[in-house]
Amino acid sequence: MEIASILITGANRGLGYELVSQFAAAKPSPDFIYAGCRNPDGADKLKELAQKHPNVKIIKIAIGDESSYQTAVQQVTQDVGDRGLTVLFNNAGILTYRSFEKVTAEEMRKEYEVDVIGPLMLTKAFYPLLKKAADNSKDKGLSCTRAAVLNMTSGIGLISDNTSGNIYPYRAAKVALNMITKSMSIDFKSDGIMAVSINPGWVQTDLGGANATLTPTECIEGIRNNVMAKMGEKENGRVVKYTGIINDY
Ligand SMILES: NC(=O)c1ccc[n+]([C@@H]2O[C@H](COP(=O)([O-])OP(=O)(O)OC[C@H]3O[C@@H](n4cnc5c(N)ncnc54)[C@H](OP(=O)(O)O)[C@@H]3O)[C@@H](O)[C@H]2O)c1
Repeated sequence: MEIASILITGANRGLGYELVSQFAAAKPSPDFIYAGCRNPDGADKLKELAQKHPNVKIIKIAIGDESSYQTAVQQVTQDVGDRGLTVLFNNAGILTYRSFEKVTAEEMRKEYEVDVIGPLMLTKAFYPLLKKAADNSKDKGLSCTRAAVLNMTSGIGLISDNTSGNIYPYRAAKVALNMITKSMSIDFKSDGIMAVSINPGWVQTDLGGANATLTPTECIEGIRNNVMAKMGEKENGRVVKYTGIINDY
């Protein structure tokens, strides 16, 4: 899979870090791997990776702070120019685990800020660069190597998965994100940009906890090989599991 450039949010730890790390080690590796994080100064693991791999660029993106999006767009534009940005991976997220009795309006707003509004507004900011990538690609049709927006969702955001109630902020945010992906897939199609929600499974990160069934390595290998390398028209607008299986509701 030859992706010219990719930007990943929430890249300083967890699944975002693993994505950057695997793309840096890939052969071929993208020309530019933008590792978005809200505190580049404290991103020690990313700094180590960027020293070994000069195509890893640490970039400040604080979800919720729209001024950081504009600065990031300028930085990426300087590197990629008319080649544009091939993949925007909206990975950063928070999990607010709250019951009906305990959930507050403020918790709902915060969860939406990071997991719904953030991916939408960041995609708006990078849209012109994604369009350039699609326009200038030798690939036709829809693919991850031409231009794509990937939104990291969760099985917890699937209505069919909800057999236990609870978790109001996260469930509501991820199902909203899936609907945003669907609209994007329709609105972007004529420009040659695809949009997919990715369900990573249950993974051992700070968010997933130690009891999760997958390691970050297994999960991201699955996302790269079973989803990103294969996705096309059929997957556009859908929720695709790290195994490559489509499971929307
Ligand atoms: N792990 C799982 O089992 C699992 C399952 C389903 C879905 N997911 C989804 O996968 C994605 C990554 O999760 P993870 O497991 O890697 O979680 P994680 O280990 O907790 O990492 C979350 C990442 O998001 C970043 N982030 C949070 N709020 C941010 C903000 N306002 N601005 C910028 N960055 C922000 C964090 O940065 P800081 O270090 O600065 O906080 C961190 O880099 C999330 O969207 C999550 O919902 C995970």
